[in-house]
Amino acid sequence: MNKQKKIFSMLVIIAVVGLGISLSGCVEEIENKIIVGTSADFPPFEYVEDGTIVGFDIEMVTMILEDLNYTVEVQDIAFEGLIGALNSDKIDVIAAGMSIDPEREVDFTIPYYEADLSVLVLTESNYTINETNHLEVLANLTVGAQTGTTGADWVYETLINITNATMQEDQLKRYTLYTLALLDLTNKNLDAIVIDKPVAEAFAEDVDAEIAYTIDSDEEYGLAVKKGNSDLLAELNQGLTKLIGTEEWTNLIKKYFE
Ligand code: ARG
Repeated sequence: MNKQKKIFSMLVIIAVVGLGISLSGCVEEIENKIIVGTSADFPPFEYVEDGTIVGFDIEMVTMILEDLNYTVEVQDIAFEGLIGALNSDKIDVIAAGMSIDPEREVDFTIPYYEADLSVLVLTESNYTINETNHLEVLANLTVGAQTGTTGADWVYETLINITNATMQEDQLKRYTLYTLALLDLTNKNLDAIVIDKPVAEAFAEDVDAEIAYTIDSDEEYGLAVKKGNSDLLAELNQGLTKLIGTEEWTNLIKKYFE
């Protein structure tokens, strides 16, 4: 090989190695993935449409994470399993209409949505439930809620776990998914479902059901990360602060709530 040829082949090698390095750089960027866990039984926040998980929470968290240059993968896990999945690093973020509650072993972002609980019944059932009689009426019904939710907790703590309770433990039926509770309501295996009001409103559009009573629970939804994951928490908080109140945000609300 003459000198010129040698220099040329050296340059080729440098170029090829360089390309390899920059390509591996790209691969690393693709690996910058965040796994979002949700419980896709909760329209309009998260639900399955044509085999895909969609909804307000999913679109919002994807917007925020993609803006931070992450790729997003969404995993569907029943609500009661979400915190465990987060704490065992199977997922990085929970986006599941999860109410901010200091007793939950996670770190929450700033709130992004406010909701009360409600009592969903079949329209034909004709219950009159109000502020004065709601405890008495509910204590005589079979009530469904999703396991691990504030709805199930409310029924248990307000109607069952009290002195002189008239409601029995087995009058509260816990379901892995709210959609299964809805099925049992329409099958008349349940008299009522205690569930977040915006979701009850969405369900009431699909089946012949209505909201018979609103429970003033004043909940706020937050995204959640593993306790101590302060970098991701800060990024999500920045993202939320940047998004909330913008035209994009208004459009997202319109898309899923109107
Ligand atoms: N907001 C309620 C809670 O935090 C219910 C959330 C249920 N979410 C769901 N995706 N199924 O307990």
